[in-house]
Formats: sequence, structure tokens, C-alpha cells
Amino acid sequence: MCGIVGYIGHRNAVSVLIQGLEHLEYRGYDSAGIACLNRSSHAIEVVKEKGKLAALKNLLAGRDLSAHAGLGHTRWATHGEPSRLNAHPHLDNSKRLAIIHNGIIENYAALKDELKAKGFRFYSQTDTEVAVNLIACYYSRSTGLVEAVLKAVKRMEGYFAFALISREEPDRLIAFKRSNPLVIGFGQQENFLASDVSALLPYTNRFLYLEDDEYAVLTARTVEVFDLKTRKPVKRRPVEIQWTIAEAQKGGYSHYMLKEIYEQPAVVEEIIKNQVKPGGRIEFERMSAGYRAKLRKIRRVYAVSCGTAYHAAIVGQYMLEKYARIPVEVAVSSEFRYEDPVLNSEDLVVVISQSGETADTLAALRIAKQKKALTLAIVNVVGSTLAREADFVIYTHAGPEIGVASTKAYVAQLATMISVTIFMARLRRKSPEAELRSLVSEFKKLPAACEKTLELAKSIDRCARKHSHRKNFLYIGRGYNYPTALEGALKLKEISYAHAHGYAAGELKHGPIALIDNEQPVICIAPHSKTYAKMVSNIQEIKARDGIVIAIGTAGDDALDDMADDFFAIPKMSEIFSPILAVIPLQLFAYKVSVLNGRDVDQPRNLAKSVTVE
Ligand code: F6R
Repeated sequence: MCGIVGYIGHRNAVSVLIQGLEHLEYRGYDSAGIACLNRSSHAIEVVKEKGKLAALKNLLAGRDLSAHAGLGHTRWATHGEPSRLNAHPHLDNSKRLAIIHNGIIENYAALKDELKAKGFRFYSQTDTEVAVNLIACYYSRSTGLVEAVLKAVKRMEGYFAFALISREEPDRLIAFKRSNPLVIGFGQQENFLASDVSALLPYTNRFLYLEDDEYAVLTARTVEVFDLKTRKPVKRRPVEIQWTIAEAQKGGYSHYMLKEIYEQPAVVEEIIKNQVKPGGRIEFERMSAGYRAKLRKIRRVYAVSCGTAYHAAIVGQYMLEKYARIPVEVAVSSEFRYEDPVLNSEDLVVVISQSGETADTLAALRIAKQKKALTLAIVNVVGSTLAREADFVIYTHAGPEIGVASTKAYVAQLATMISVTIFMARLRRKSPEAELRSLVSEFKKLPAACEKTLELAKSIDRCARKHSHRKNFLYIGRGYNYPTALEGALKLKEISYAHAHGYAAGELKHGPIALIDNEQPVICIAPHSKTYAKMVSNIQEIKARDGIVIAIGTAGDDALDDMADDFFAIPKMSEIFSPILAVIPLQLFAYKVSVLNGRDVDQPRNLAKSVTVE
């Protein structure tokens, strides 16, 4: 979704803004722009363009802009098509103010009519231009910018975060947050703003996340944060984030996605290091005895999330039900939030999210809290909103995930789910300790097994070459690998734009088998499991109808190898680990098909990394 960067300090703001926007490109966008404040000219210069940052940089190449403060934005269209006019920043009619904004102002149409009646003119289709003019409407030298912002915010409905500069108050940036993320970065005689920390990692690792309905005033030397309701200063310590800039760069790989696929063994290793303690105990940092006691009393779990994280939730359901013997319901956040779910204090609502900022998942968490359920967030981004608002957070420690298509964050969610499962099984005394111990020792072998699975890359390339021209793919799996089928299909469709559909293999006969002919590839995920024989029957049914079988199976499964047109072997491990191993070849397949079709692997069309609007 849209990216925000703000700067005030001793450097030339233009390069800070552009570099910051480069680090936010992964979020997905369709236009970009900057606004700069130059103390000597007393003017705000705005440069913006439709398309990628390269187009903006081309425009800037001929300009000699120097500025001590400014705002940068990458826009993902919500109101109005992607175009230069609709791109941010937006100026008010008098060109005194410039704004960048993420989110949606739901009552913008009524506000626009009101402003039009007062003589304001609008040049774009955006709600953002309405916001800046509304602020301008309340702005005078005597009231000052902060007062004008507060008056305007009172009139604005919806979910938004914005940053503002004024020609008349050139030594400050003003920022406001409601729902959409905004973080302040602290420097030496310079301060920064961004929608996520990756934009600011080259400059600082000290951050303060704004909470909802807080506003901030930044100068080069000071940062003040206030609560909207009380207007009192907020005293909160900045957090330190240990991600390095190197972690957020490509490191020799042709795409972030490929780098992130190859990081998976290390990600799993890190999770084991953090969560598996000597003697095989599972522990989660900072879990209090009180929270543990509440967990023990839980009678039902809801796992709520979106997209790839939803697939992790389904895997989690199978794990928890088998080993912790607790009923688990899985829901897509956008449904859960409007379903009026029946919840009480004996329910645990687990929200799973890479970004920790997904609007629907955040709404689901808030509903769960309102209904007094115990909440747990499994989140990658440290300090994100879900992490802050849940009763307890387990970080997945996957490092920054830049590719829009989630890979290592998914594997990290699954690995964390294994820890949570073993932990809950012990807490509830529902599985024999010997069995859990043996799972823990096998868990420690998982990073090496992931490494081994990555060796499939070359043969997967060959398979992708055979099929990259095709427009339709089916994915089937059962049990733990039914969600793997969903995830494999999602990966392929989002980055290659081919149609791909994941099914529970048992559903094949209930409809999709009609699609099978000699042009239809079916990716069959069939490692050894309790439903292996059923998967083999499904594969035979596909072969009997001349379908093309691409099988993922257990190493040494010669029978499956013989049956399939292409066979990819994953290491032999207990079933609970198979969704982590089986998804790796599917990620590699999707990646290669995308590259062969010349798609934008890391920033596929229409997609955003962090979905902060509904
Ligand atoms: C797909 C993908 C998305 C996200 C979804 C939830 O590759 O990345 O489906 O999984 O938008 O995002 P988070 O995990 O940030 O809540």
C-alpha cells in the first residue's frame, strides 16, 4: 500500500526522500512524488509522476532542488486512477501546505461539497486533496498548523495517517495517525517519519511508533508526540530495531523473492534458537505466568488472518487439533470481522500476520478484545500495531520481507505454529511427552531439510520451462498439505498472473475433475502421510484422464516418481513438518514461471505488501 517518508534536518531532503521511497517500493504502488521545503525560496516544490520511481527520478534529474525538509510518497490508488494528478503530495489551493496520506477518508465527498461551496477548487479525484484543503480552511497564522490539523481531523471519518509541511512554518513536520501505521525515526539533529521502518534503516534504528489518534510535531532537533483527546504530551520510549540494511537488500540475488526463499533454512534456524530451549522446552520471550495461566484455561482457538497467513492458520489448525486436542476454527479476517463471532474469555484468538498492519486482521483483533477473548499475535514486524495491541505477541523473526509475495514469512509462521503446538500440547497435557520430545528433536533437523529441498531448484527450473506458457494450474493436497495446495496456487497466480486454483484433493471428484485433459497440469502434494493412499488414488484418476501430474513426494517414493510426469522429492520427516518442506518447490516453481513470463516478481501488478485499507 502507499508509502510515507518525511524528513527534516541537515541533509538534502530530496535524496533522503528518494532513498526512503526506494526502500518502500516493495509495498506496491502506482505513482510517486515528493514535496520539498526550501528555506530561502519560501516555497513548496512538488514533483510527482505516474508509474515507478524511475519516472520520478527522471523528472528530478533536470532539477536542482535542495531542501532541509520534505515529504515523499508512493501511492496505491484508492480514490481515482493512477495518474500524475492523483499522485501525492497534494497542495492546498493557496499552495501553503503539502500533504501525503495513507488510508481512506470515508466522508470525503461530503467534505468536498462543503469546501466547494466555500470556493475551494479540486484538481484531483483524491480524498487527500480534500484533507489538505480542509486543513487549509482552518489554517491561519494566528491559529497555527497544529490547531488547524486538529480541527480538520475532528471532521474526518475513516482510517488514515498523514504528514504535512507548511511554507509558513518551515521548521516543522506534522504527522497524524489513525489506524494506518506511522513511525518516527530519531537521528542526530535530524528526524524522520515513515510508514514502515525499512525506509529509515539507512539512517537510524531508533523508532517510535505512533498509536491511533496521536499526532507528532518534528523539528530537526525535537520530536513531540501528543494524544488527540487530552492534547497532553505522550511519553513513550523509542524501540531499537536490529534489522540491518543488508537484510533489506537483494544480496546478489536477482529478486528479493528468490533471496527470501533461500533465507528459509536460516529463518527456521533462528526460530528454533529463539523458541526451543535446552532440554527441549518451548518458551516464548516475555510470556508472563498470568498469560500462561489464561492459556491453560482456553477451550477453543480461532485463528484469523488473510491471504498467505490464512493458509498458515489452516496448517496451525491441523497441528493444534492433533497434538493439543483443542478445537480450532479458522477464519479469513475480512469475514470474521463482520460475522459477529461468538467469543468469550475462554476463547483464544490468534491473529497471524507478516506486517502486523493488515487492516482486516487488526479489526478482527479489536473485535476479539471487545468480546473479552484472550489474544495472541504471531507477527513478523517488531512493534507493529498487531504486536502492540494483542495480549501477547510471538515474533516470527524472519527479518524484513520485501518481495510482495510472502515466502519466508509463511515458513516462519508455520515453524512458529510448530512451537506453539508443542507448547500448548504440554500445557494441556494432551500428547505423550515422548512423542513431543521426538518432535522437538526432529524440529532441530528442519533447517537442514529445508536446505536440502532448495537443491531442487534446477530441476524445478526445467519443469517451469515446460509449463510456463500454460494459463491454468490446479493444486491438490490433503491434511497438512491442503493449505500447501492453496498457498502454491496463490503464489503462482499472484506473481505469474496464470490462473491457479488450490483444492482439497478429496474435492476433485466434486467438480474440478471436469477440467482434466492432456493440457491440464495438476500439482499434487503427496508426501507420506495418513492420507497418502488417497492422494495416490487421486493421482491415478488424473492420469486416467490424461492430466499432467507434477508431484511433490517423499524422497525414495519410486512409485509416485513413476506415476508422475515430474517428481520432486522432499526429505522424509514427520507429517507436521511436511507443509514447510513441500511449499519450497512450489515457491520456486511460481518464481521461475513468473521470471519466464517477464513479470515483475517482487512487485506484481495491483498488489501491495501491506494491506492497510479494507
Ligand atoms: C501473498 C501475501 C498476502 C498476505 C496478506 C496478509 O503472498 O503476501 O496474501 O499474506 O496480505 O498480509 P499480512 O501477513 O501482512 O497480514
